[in-house]
Parts: sequence; C-alpha cells; structure tokens
Amino acid sequence: MRIALLPGDGIGPEVAAAAERVLQELPLDLELEKHPFGGAAIDETGDPLPAATLAAVESADAVLMGAVGDPRFDGAEVRPEQGLLRLRSELGVYANLRPAHGEGVDLLVVRELVGGLYFGARGVRDDGTVFDTMEYRPDEVERIARRGFELARSRRGHVMSVDKANVLDTSRLWRRVVERVAGDYPDIELRHMLVDNCGMQLVLAPGQFDVILTENTFGDILSDVAAGLTGGLGLAASASLGDGRPGIFEPVHGSAPDIAGRGIANPAAMLRSAALMLAHGVDRPAEAARLEAAVDAAVASTPTPDLGGTATTTEFADAVVRELASR
Ligand code: IPM
Ligand code: MG
Repeated sequence: MRIALLPGDGIGPEVAAAAERVLQELPLDLELEKHPFGGAAIDETGDPLPAATLAAVESADAVLMGAVGDPRFDGAEVRPEQGLLRLRSELGVYANLRPAHGEGVDLLVVRELVGGLYFGARGVRDDGTVFDTMEYRPDEVERIARRGFELARSRRGHVMSVDKANVLDTSRLWRRVVERVAGDYPDIELRHMLVDNCGMQLVLAPGQFDVILTENTFGDILSDVAAGLTGGLGLAASASLGDGRPGIFEPVHGSAPDIAGRGIANPAAMLRSAALMLAHGVDRPAEAARLEAAVDAAVASTPTPDLGGTATTTEFADAVVRELASR
C-alpha cells in the first residue's frame, strides 16, 4: 500500500516524523513517500500543491497530511491553505469525519468539505465590496447526508443536522434534502438544530450528540469546539473521504507556528489520523484499533505540554511504540 505523506508547514514535519516512526512498528506493508505541500512547496516551486505532488497523491492509496499554514504568507496572493483546499477538491473528499471522545463526550462531526463558502464565487466590486458566496446543489447535500446516516448506523443511531434554516436559503435546502434522505433510514433518529444553539449545546450538554451533520463552514467551527471539549486540538484527528478516490487523513490542528521547531508538538492528533487512515483508507481495522489504544495509553502516561505534561514529540512517539509492543 502506498501512502503519500505530506508533512507541510510548522509542526507538520515534526508530527509527520512521529507518524513515520510509529507506522514502521506495525506489521503492515506500507510504503510512505514524502511530497512537498503548503508553504514548503511554495518556497520550492511557487505552488502550494505542485503538479508532481498532485500526481503522486492521485495514484496513492491514501494521503496522510501534517499541517499547512505559515505566517510568512499572510496577505500574500499565493497561500499554503489554497493547496489544501485544492487537494480536497481534486480528490473529491466531500465527507470530513471528526470524532471527539472524552469524559461524557462521544460524538462525530460529519462536515461537508468541498462546497459552501470555501468554494463559492468570490470577488471584489468596484466600490471595494468583497464577497464570498455560499452555494449548495441538492446532490452535494444528499451525498453528505447519506454518509452521515450510514455512519450513525455504526454508532448510536442518532443524527443531529445543524444549519441556519431561520436565515439562509442554503440551510433550508439542506434541511429539505436531509429530511428526504432520512426516509431511507427509518432506523436512524434525525433532529435539526440551529448552528448558534449547537455551539452552546456543545459546551453545555455535549452528551446529547452522536453524529453532527453539517455544512463546511459550520463544521469547521463546531469541530474546533468539539475538540476543545476533549483535550484540545493536540488530540483531534480527521478523515476526509470521497467515493473511490484516496482519502486524506489529517489532524484538525494547524501548523502552530508559535511552537514549531521546538520538538514539543503533540503528535497524538496525527497518530490518530494515521489510525483513521488504517481503518478507512487501507482497510486494516485491527491495526487501527491497536494504534488507537496505544495512543490513548500514551496520552495518559506521557502527556505533552498542551496536556499539562513535559513530554517532547519524540518521547510521546517512543511511548506509543512501547505501548504497541505490549498489545
Ligand atoms: C481545518 C482547517 C482548514 C479549514 C484551513 C487550514 C483551511 O481549519 O481543516 O479545519 O478551514 O478547513
Ligand atoms: Mg478548522
């Protein structure tokens, strides 16, 4: 199995190195190939997603990504994040799965990833007005809704569809389509919630959520809130899946330029993303579960500074390797 590893920027290469080290310990025939991406690729080629990287990614079985973003490109025309958005769009990974579990929290954010404000028409008018537009086609809503319902079947059978249907037409479309799709899933309980209320409910009573199904921008925000409930971004992993193309597996966190280069980044989110890759990307659920359990144990035994501990990135990875050996 060929994995395209895109370390990217900031702490990306540090957590990617931890993933490389840990994945080597598993009895899998994985070939990891590194490719330039993000700010690092802009430096090399002027493009955050160089043609060679895109070609490599398209022929890989899965993509494991570190992080992109670099303050050196703030305000620049070409930015690292554009590479990530193009990568998601090129691979058609419309379903972004962001699990959060901890004390009293066990939920999965299912975020639409290739539509909405991120990809709508944008521009500047003569009077200086700048605009981004939110657009959704019915089939774009339908395919992510189906994913959400399918995923709910393997969990507690509840979908909370989150929108802003009291204001936005795109949300009213979202609600109509989700209601229609729900007809095919009579075993799943569907409820709707407005996004502002969902933000509050996540903070006050997160135990009520199983699957949160939502559009791109709302999912971006709510998945950070969910991560904040369960130990922060150092722990939050994600899987981005399409239909029949390689998936992208990446931590929810960014490149964290404030701590980059110091060797103290928590690689747990990256390692959990690698576990999601084993489960959803290359169909090795048993090794995925083993890796997840080892990461959980290392979080408890060897916490990094973001978790109140003193472990370095390497020490954490070493702890995961030790835990793997004992299970
Ligand atoms: C995320 C990130 C990205 C997003 C950025 C880096 C473009 O915040 O994966 O949540 O907004 O999707
Ligand atoms: Mg985000």
